[in-house]
Amino acid sequence: MRIAIIGGSGVYDPGILSNIREEKVTTPYGTAVIKAGTYQGEEIGFMPRHGEKHTVPPHKVNYRANIWALKKLGVERVLATAAVGSTNPEFKAGEFVLVDDFLDFTKTRVYTFFEGGAMGVVHTDFTTPYCPELRQVLVATAAELGIKAHDGGVYACTEGPRFETPAEIRMIRQLGGDLVGMTNVPEVILAHEAGLCYGLIAMVTNMAAGISATPLSHEEVLAIMDQNGKNLRDLIMRTIPCIPRERNCRCELTAGKIGV
Ligand code: HPA
Repeated sequence: MRIAIIGGSGVYDPGILSNIREEKVTTPYGTAVIKAGTYQGEEIGFMPRHGEKHTVPPHKVNYRANIWALKKLGVERVLATAAVGSTNPEFKAGEFVLVDDFLDFTKTRVYTFFEGGAMGVVHTDFTTPYCPELRQVLVATAAELGIKAHDGGVYACTEGPRFETPAEIRMIRQLGGDLVGMTNVPEVILAHEAGLCYGLIAMVTNMAAGISATPLSHEEVLAIMDQNGKNLRDLIMRTIPCIPRERNCRCELTAGKIGV
């Protein structure tokens, strides 16, 4: 299994994979469940981040088990989806952003595989947290499909599960955040530490608190995800066959080795 999809809010179904089977993978951090199926002759993994019925909130996702399991299954490239709010007037509801950097405002999470001891003391380079090669394939595929997708944007991760206050959103905007979500930290960090290429397709579901004319709701987020679900599926499925077999990025090199 070379490629896996991590589905965020509104993406719980591996869609057009065939011969789907479920695998339970044992990791040092607990068991992770992943679906595996075939698409165009290749085995693809699918992991719904919040569980199949959206029962796991962002601060309770077992990010380390999930990423460790992908690594253990031989995955090299991860395409992840996330619903996000926008602080940037140029990024509008229903549009995609192919994220290229992040800011971290989370508070309670475990951020690393490297806890000292046998794992060693490792300081991983994060100059390119998101795989530039995957982003380039996503940009090209979106253009081909006529789907509006911005090339680059800064994802600010908040702790949740509540949405942000207007003051928090003003702060995030001033500090350079374009998008807000609750899950990409520590997911992208662990993926990068593990040497996986990680590409994030963020879908803007709402303008952020204080910018939006109306109060925010999870139902609104899911409704927009649902309306644009076909575009998201098309983008992922058309991207997969275009991902080069050889990795021409530095994701594997710059990351530490977690020794799975
Ligand atoms: N804030 C945080 N997470 C989100 C939002 C938001 O406005 N929209 C979708 N996920």
